[in-house]
Amino acid sequence: MAPDILIFGGKGGVGKSTTSTATAVHLARLDPSKKIFIISFDIAHNLSDIFSVDIGDKIVQVLPNLWAMEPDAERYTEEFVHDFVVKAKKLALDMPLVKRLTNLDAYIEESFSAASIPLAVKNSIFFDEVLEKENEFDVIVIDMPPTGNMISIFEVPKTTMQVFLKTTLETMDNVLEFVSTMRKMNPLNWFRPGTSEKRKNMAAELLGMLKELDRRNDRIMKLLKNNSSLRFVTIAERPSYEEIRRANDMTKKYVRLDGIVINKINPEGLDCQFCEKESVYQKKYIALIEDYFKGQKIWKSYRMDEEVIGLQQLQQFGERVYKDDDFNSIIHPAKPVT
Ligand SMILES: Nc1ncnc2c1ncn2[C@@H]1O[C@H](COP(=O)(O)OP(=O)(O)O)[C@@H](O)[C@H]1O
Ligand SMILES: [Mg+2]
Repeated sequence: MAPDILIFGGKGGVGKSTTSTATAVHLARLDPSKKIFIISFDIAHNLSDIFSVDIGDKIVQVLPNLWAMEPDAERYTEEFVHDFVVKAKKLALDMPLVKRLTNLDAYIEESFSAASIPLAVKNSIFFDEVLEKENEFDVIVIDMPPTGNMISIFEVPKTTMQVFLKTTLETMDNVLEFVSTMRKMNPLNWFRPGTSEKRKNMAAELLGMLKELDRRNDRIMKLLKNNSSLRFVTIAERPSYEEIRRANDMTKKYVRLDGIVINKINPEGLDCQFCEKESVYQKKYIALIEDYFKGQKIWKSYRMDEEVIGLQQLQQFGERVYKDDDFNSIIHPAKPVT
């Protein structure tokens, strides 16, 4: 069965990483029979800091039923591009005229370098780790980068293939045009038989890599549509509130919104004039959020007076946010009646 995927998005610094990590820990504790996986989609990973455990580009077990990973986008892109370049070179070297081009190696390498891959495509590779693990876990929690980058991750499934094909075809076009001009000038080639089987196979291999990307993107789109649940994390102030309203409009077509976490709310009864003033405008924004997102589950998360670092703090954080909600109602929150 495909896993449930919980996606946490919102403005930078509002507590997405803390909330997604605490949610993963909380779910793991609520149901020890379920396997939970938390993955960071932010190139600036910080799960290691929050768990206070060295994670990085490999799956690390954090609790008996909780695993975490911070994939390295650079490494993945380099591997993919390297594989592509090796195949492209093999193909080019099999073409009688092309192989005589000076600097062919450099030409191919420059056309397809990890540096020439758009950031958006690079971002999307995180999904590969999810696809690889989709059958191993019951719940996958995704800690997203701030809104703009999150949107480009959602958009990628539609564009990766086009971007890649465009670059490839343009490069191939240049090469082929050159070859055909040379051929026309060389009478010996006028009666040349068609493309060899060997070359066709190599071209098919290259195209296969691109088709594989396309298949992967299809699967990602389906997982987003059918198995994913987006939650916005926000704080009770204007910029963050405005941002989740915009994000809501932009993410609608990709993934279902299932709830809002209002974070860093001042607890009641603080003996502090400054906080009291802050609480006044926080209340105003809480009311605005509740009104705008009426019909959504809204979780309130209070400001803690300690750093939220390590399992114990995360557990406490989760308990405070989700209170008596059980495992299923966190994953599929019941919508309040409006
Ligand atoms: N409820 C809270 N109480 C106290 N500190 C919090 C709370 N939520 C988040 N923080 C702190 O705010 C900072 C930003 O949180 P983080 O989860 O990294 O945000 P984001 O992932 O949205 O950029 C961190 O130092 C984190 O410990
Ligand atoms: Mg973060």
